[in-house]
Order: sequence, then structure tokens, then C-alpha cells
Amino acid sequence: MATEKTFYLETFGCQMNAHDSEKVIGTLQQQGYRQVETEEEAGLILYNTCSIRDKAEQKVFHRLNDYKALHKAGKRFGVLGCVAQQEGEKIFEKAPFVSLVSGSASYRKLPEMIARLEAGENRITGLDDRQIEETFETEFTARQNPYRGYITIIEGCDKFCSYCVVPYTRGKERSRTSSSVLAEARRIADLGYTEIQLLGQNVNSYRDPEGKMSFADLLDSVGRVPGIRRVRFTTSHPRDFTCDIVQAIDTNPALCDHVHLPVQSGSARVLKRMAREYTPDWYLERIEWIKSARRTISLSTDIIVGFPGETEDDFIQTMDLLAKVQYDCVFAFKYSARPNTPALVMIDSIPEKEKATRLQVLLDRQREIQRVNYAMHIGEQMEVMVEGQNPARGQIAGRSSQNKAVNFTCAQPIAPAPGSYMQVKITAAHPNSLVGESI
Ligand code: 5AD
Ligand code: SF4
Repeated sequence: MATEKTFYLETFGCQMNAHDSEKVIGTLQQQGYRQVETEEEAGLILYNTCSIRDKAEQKVFHRLNDYKALHKAGKRFGVLGCVAQQEGEKIFEKAPFVSLVSGSASYRKLPEMIARLEAGENRITGLDDRQIEETFETEFTARQNPYRGYITIIEGCDKFCSYCVVPYTRGKERSRTSSSVLAEARRIADLGYTEIQLLGQNVNSYRDPEGKMSFADLLDSVGRVPGIRRVRFTTSHPRDFTCDIVQAIDTNPALCDHVHLPVQSGSARVLKRMAREYTPDWYLERIEWIKSARRTISLSTDIIVGFPGETEDDFIQTMDLLAKVQYDCVFAFKYSARPNTPALVMIDSIPEKEKATRLQVLLDRQREIQRVNYAMHIGEQMEVMVEGQNPARGQIAGRSSQNKAVNFTCAQPIAPAPGSYMQVKITAAHPNSLVGESI
């Protein structure tokens, strides 16, 4: 009897990577592979990697190192995703036991690459860069999340922010047709999913190749697919953020009342050096559109501290922007110099310690903002989608339409299933979560 083909896959990085992994898993299953839970059990060990910051990249090499002894037991290793695309064949030098290196733009060639691997070939590469014209889609996507269905609507990036690897790791911007996105949304709804998250590095830079729909039209149409109750989208670029997105959220209750709009810095000078192509005033105008909607739309953002040449005054301007916008959530990072990027020639002048101090000051201030924002929900009743349970605390964990974590108690003897919706009255608040009881 032939030995069973098994694989282990670990994913690092963003939701795009999480969703790519769903496609990779489906493709491998189609090739007769079974997914297993640990490296030890697997014949093929795959890491789907992230290279957005140096730390993320180092994690991959640590992981490879931790398990390299398994090579002697006959196991094969593959590196997928952004580090694979960025480092290419250099990975074979750093980790000679790796047999397969493939960037995301080459996943359509996975069946062929896997066949070569099975034939005993080593050093197989899939390293398409900015030439690819289409996103990789497969009918075999093995959805891992039982309640949130991801759909890629646009891949790659043409923005070339001076600090960012993504245009090099994920290739040029390419959108899917609105017909194929809507067909997938209907398929997901038929499978019983009620929440859809539309994905793209710059989701709102979407351009329908069929010319039928704007991004806002597509958002609205996905929200009208029968059975779909919640639609999220991530990540938006301020440059392409248009008023009609706010109008769509305002008029279609299935669209979640949350916008993630990365600002990166509150200083016009730094934004210019980052090549973000907007000023703080221009950004704040978009925030004003969102804030003047009829629904209360929750805001979150990404910020980089310690970008080369960021002065104390630049940093204070970022703090001022936080105070003005009053975000519900901020993802803040210390600048990390990345290969190939234009910012590499700028001197990374802020000492690590100073970057860490700025990050901490920012996070402390943001925590206070969230303390106030979250407390404002006390007494409100909201719809929560159940995501899981915390039996130790006797609480159900879920998420509001605004994407806030809600932990609540429930009088029912049987805990509600993940993916179900509950009405919850909010009784207490923390800076990162709400507490309540179901009604
Ligand atoms: N250093 C630090 N943070 C970065 N990001 C992207 N590139 C870098 C970098 N070189 C952050 C940005 C982006 C988020 C996904 O990661 O804030 O929005
Ligand atoms: Fe990381 Fe960016 Fe690649 Fe996502 S697209 S995995 S964030 S480098």
C-alpha cells in the first residue's frame, strides 16, 4: 500500500496569507494530501511566510531551524509566501534542507510543483513577480474559519510606499471581475456563511475588469447576496477612499460599521517621505466623511513610528492626529528597514530605544482613548456574532458589527454555536473589549 501523503502548514502574517493558505490546503487535498496538526506527523512541512517587518521574517528562519532535524527522517520542507518571493533561491543557501520555494503569485503552479517534489526533485521554485495578470483562485479552497468567508477581490500593490515590501512580494495590482466575486459570495452563502470579508492589499483600489462596478457598488452587491448578514473589507488606502463607500455603509445594514484606514503618520513631512501621496488634512477630510455618516462607523488604523528622519515634532503630530480621530483600534509598529524598498537609502536614524519609547507613548495614549470610546457602549444593546467560548470564565466570545470583541454570559443551557447571532446588553467595558449579557 502506498504511504499516505500528509502535510503540515503554518501561516504567518496578514489575512491575505490566511486566505492563501486556505487555497493551498484545498489544492493539496485535491492532490491526495491530508492535513495534519504537527510537523512530526507530516511528510511535507510548509510555512506560508510574511516579510512585512524583519521580525516576521526572522520567525520563519527560526521555525525552519527548530525543525530542520526532521529532514533526516525524510520529511520535505517548503517555504511559501512573502519571504519566499523576497528571498527566492537564497533560501536554499540559508536552509539547504528546503526543497520548495514559492511566492503567492505562483500558487496556480502548485500541483505541478508538488508533482516534481514527489518525483524527488529538489530546489523547486515558483517565483513569478510583477508579471502576473490574474489573482489565484481555486474551487477547492478549504475554508478554515467556520463563520467568516474570505474573498480576494484584488491582489498586489502599485502604490510603492517607500517602506513597504508588498509591491515586490505580491506583484502588480490585479482585480477580479465583479461577476466572479459575486458568484463566490453566493457560493459561500449557500455553504451557510453569513459573514464575508473582502480582501486586498488596497481593497478600495478595486477596478472591475468588466467595468461594471465600482468598489462601493461591489461592496453593496455582496451585502445584498441572500443569506449574507455581515460584510467587512480590508485594507483600504486613503488615496483611493471615496465618499460612495461611506454612502454604501450608510444605506446597506449588512455592511459592517467599521473602516480600517491606515494613516501611518500624522506628519505631512513624514508622509511625503513615505510616498503616501496624501497630507494629514487630506486624510482627515476622509475621516470627516466617515464621521458624518448617519451610522456611527468605528475607525481603526495602522501607524509606523520611527520612520527614518522622524523628529520629535513629527511624532507629536501623529499623537495630535490620534487625539483628533479617536480611533477604536490602532496597530502601531516600529519602522523596520526592508530589502528592495526605496526607504533603504534613507538613514534609519532613530535609535531602537527611541522607537520603542515612541511606540509605548503612543500605545499608552491610545489605550486611554479606547477606555473612553469603549465605555460609551455601556447600556447599549448590540448584535454579536458568536466566535467561541471561554468556559473557564463562563463567557461566550463574539464580535460586534464594529469589530469590537464582546464577552458575554448567556442564560441558555446550551451555548450558542459559533457563527450564530445574539442580542447582547453591554454592562461593562475594557479598553479592548466589551462585557455583556445576552437578552
Ligand atoms: N516597518 C514597519 N511597519 C511596516 N508596515 C509596513 N511596512 C512596514 C515596515 N517596513 C506596517 C504598515 C502597514 C502594516 C500592515 O504594516 O503600518 O499598514
Ligand atoms: Fe506580510 Fe504583507 Fe505578505 Fe501580508 S502581504 S504576508 S502583511 S508581507
